[in-house]
Amino acid sequence: MFKFEVLKADGKARRGRLYTPHGVIETPVFMPVGTQGTVKAMIHKLLEDIGTQIILGNTYHLYLRPGLEVIESAGGLHNFIGWKKPILTDSGGFQVFSLAKDRLKDGRSKVKVEEDGVYFKDHLAGDTHFFTPEFVIKAQEIFGSDIIMPLDECVEYPTTYAYAKSALERTLRWLDRSIKAKTREDQVLFGIVQGAFFEDLRRESALRTMERELFGYAIGGLSVGEPKEIMIEMAQLVCEELPWEKPRYLMGVGMPEDLLMAIGVGVDMFDCVAPTRMARTGTLFTSQGKLNIRKEIYKKDFSPPDPECDCYTCQNFSRAYLRHLFHAEEISAYILNTIHNLHFYHRLMEGARKAIEEGNFDSYRKGWLERLSVAVG
Ligand code: GUN
Ligand code: ZN
Repeated sequence: MFKFEVLKADGKARRGRLYTPHGVIETPVFMPVGTQGTVKAMIHKLLEDIGTQIILGNTYHLYLRPGLEVIESAGGLHNFIGWKKPILTDSGGFQVFSLAKDRLKDGRSKVKVEEDGVYFKDHLAGDTHFFTPEFVIKAQEIFGSDIIMPLDECVEYPTTYAYAKSALERTLRWLDRSIKAKTREDQVLFGIVQGAFFEDLRRESALRTMERELFGYAIGGLSVGEPKEIMIEMAQLVCEELPWEKPRYLMGVGMPEDLLMAIGVGVDMFDCVAPTRMARTGTLFTSQGKLNIRKEIYKKDFSPPDPECDCYTCQNFSRAYLRHLFHAEEISAYILNTIHNLHFYHRLMEGARKAIEEGNFDSYRKGWLERLSVAVG
């Protein structure tokens, strides 16, 4: 049911294919984020039209709302949300540890990590919950997502060596409990490599996670505020250790240039809120760089957002119209901007796949990096 093959390599960049019970995924792939069982400002039909191959859901959010009982009664997440293609769910590890930055009114942390699991106060009602590695696997078995992630401990940037080491060890112990807890055959579990920004810890985490012989490996704990060069350096040295024949997923990354750089060091899968979130604040990714549709200069600009783009938005609407919709706070503004940005990400990945097949990924990346460094306005 599950299989991953590397079809072609160009340097360290890989063109792969991932088979799941809900369909085949061509890699490198970008996975739009559908935190609450929907990609914000999109409907599934629109995602299919632009070539979305897989979406991501979050255990943390879906557990809080609508709750596991509802999704179980619906017969799983695919049934509940009516999405027929593959789904990857994240474990909640990252969401819970992100909450740790927020404080309660009396200054106490909303998160308490213990060996058995993690206590946290949710962002909705403020109730206390307890996630264990076993519970998080159980939740994702109820979801029936194709790819599931173990509970992990993600640390902030910067952090101490001692803390990074202890989080790495805990992540491995939690991974072993996750492997034991897993019962379904029609899902695969990825391991998550941690190790913060210490080269030896990153390599150690990669090697020890690999010993567990999982279907695929994720690189976690990156894009948490570190300089981009450091992020790519960490992704590169982890990829150097990971087994060639298994898929690699760089969690929560990134901007178009980050994706190209990471593909160049051997990453196959990505997710990030950037294209959808930035669409909703009026930033469009174009072949000439980022464009801020809110600006006055577009008031009477009747050209498409990106003349080189063949998405529904660019084929039918002008910058002036999109600017108007945005300022009028029309729902269509968010929809049209999101269609364009996700289309842009998917075409960027499609181009990367083709370039790897043809053996010219380096020049493809270079060409894009030059264009992306220019902001149109
Ligand atoms: N999303 C982005 N980074 C991470 C991480 O380190 N762990 C998990 N579980 N999800 C993430
Ligand atoms: Zn477009």
